[in-house]
Amino acid sequence: MKLLLKNCKLVEGIRNILIEDEKIASIQEADSSRKERRLEMECNEIIDIRGNTVIPGMIDPHVHMRDLKQTYKEDWTSGSEAALAGGITTVFDMPNTKPDTMNLENLNLKRQAAKSSKVKYKFHIGATCNNLEQIKIILKNNPDDIAGIKIFLAASSSNEVVTDRQILKQIFKIAKQYDKVVVVHTELQECLDKWLHTNVKRSVINHNIFRHRICAIEGTKLVLEIADEVKNRIYIAHVSTSEEINLIKRFKEKNNVYCEITPHHLLLNEKILEKVGNWGKVNPPLRTDMDNVALWNAVHNGTVDTIGTDHAPHYIEEKQQEYSKAPSGFPGLETCLPLLLTEISSGFDINKIIELTSRNTAKIFGLEKNVGIKKGNYADLAVIDLNKKWTINASKFKTKAKYSPFDEVNVKGKIVMTFVNGRCYKFEE
Ligand code: DOR
Ligand code: ZN
Repeated sequence: MKLLLKNCKLVEGIRNILIEDEKIASIQEADSSRKERRLEMECNEIIDIRGNTVIPGMIDPHVHMRDLKQTYKEDWTSGSEAALAGGITTVFDMPNTKPDTMNLENLNLKRQAAKSSKVKYKFHIGATCNNLEQIKIILKNNPDDIAGIKIFLAASSSNEVVTDRQILKQIFKIAKQYDKVVVVHTELQECLDKWLHTNVKRSVINHNIFRHRICAIEGTKLVLEIADEVKNRIYIAHVSTSEEINLIKRFKEKNNVYCEITPHHLLLNEKILEKVGNWGKVNPPLRTDMDNVALWNAVHNGTVDTIGTDHAPHYIEEKQQEYSKAPSGFPGLETCLPLLLTEISSGFDINKIIELTSRNTAKIFGLEKNVGIKKGNYADLAVIDLNKKWTINASKFKTKAKYSPFDEVNVKGKIVMTFVNGRCYKFEE
């Protein structure tokens, strides 16, 4: 099966991409030559990309696909369709599912469920205070489908929390032994417990006070110090404060420390909560405009390695409950790339977007041999109309969670096609 994508705008210019048996077979200048016409005749299918921009499909390192006992929130079919619509071709699924991914038996259940996925995937397995043997059992045969080991220092749609320094150290050592990245949600439970009784009104507007920034900063400091001792590879998920950025920057100088941010921590802050209410309730919370500035600076100076969506779908009626009962998190797969592309007009360039959404993620999690628009690599691509202006409409999302703090936001840049292993999915233009 030979598929020719004609007139693709790559960073280096307009090219034709030949896809054969799931992979990129060649990339040639689009020059209407006789050679090009001969190639066209050999192909089973030709798609004219019409000068639209083609980038590697996003690898999303932070996705909660749910499924299993939470299919009412999301399942692998709806979640992967949302990923495709967002130009995302690989997702790493988080372990705080029901049942959780903290032993081999449950991992195998998840492996079964994930077979209905239309995008590629890997799993983060969860570490607790008492599953270290299980982690070793899972990692012993070096399975290709494990992305990393996830630790929650605080509860957040999860119950298994690890904050004990000695246990954290043991987990980090196992990660080092099996060469896996430790992914940490760094808000620290003991600290959050103290702030829970603070005297401010219980309202989503104060979420950033209840889950105080100090708790994320303390947790980040704790795990950076331990990683500095153990010398393992550590990945701080959804960094939300300027203080954490400064810490990470410092520790990065002599350690393998990686930093992930989300589009919502980059582009939104607590002020939006007046308007969007619980749709914007998320952990870590939306912070301040000063933090937005610090995250942008960190993007530009290379402190930020990756962007993850933290796609965290919940049932709409759960989110409509009063503040303290409503779960944290909202969908992000379909809004991430359009939101980032919209920033291109303010000096964010497409190369940087590629770096943050696929190149660095692939490097950190060991996928780099297959990722990128190069001969021999899998044809995992997103085709983007960079000039298309449109408005986010959550009611049209493919995810089951049809709400978003970005609902009704105007964006510029639309995913028109997504390719996974050369298979084309088209979206309305
Ligand atoms: O807001 C969040 N939602 N933060 C998390 O850490 C977990 C996530 C979820 O699974 O719902
Ligand atoms: Zn998450």
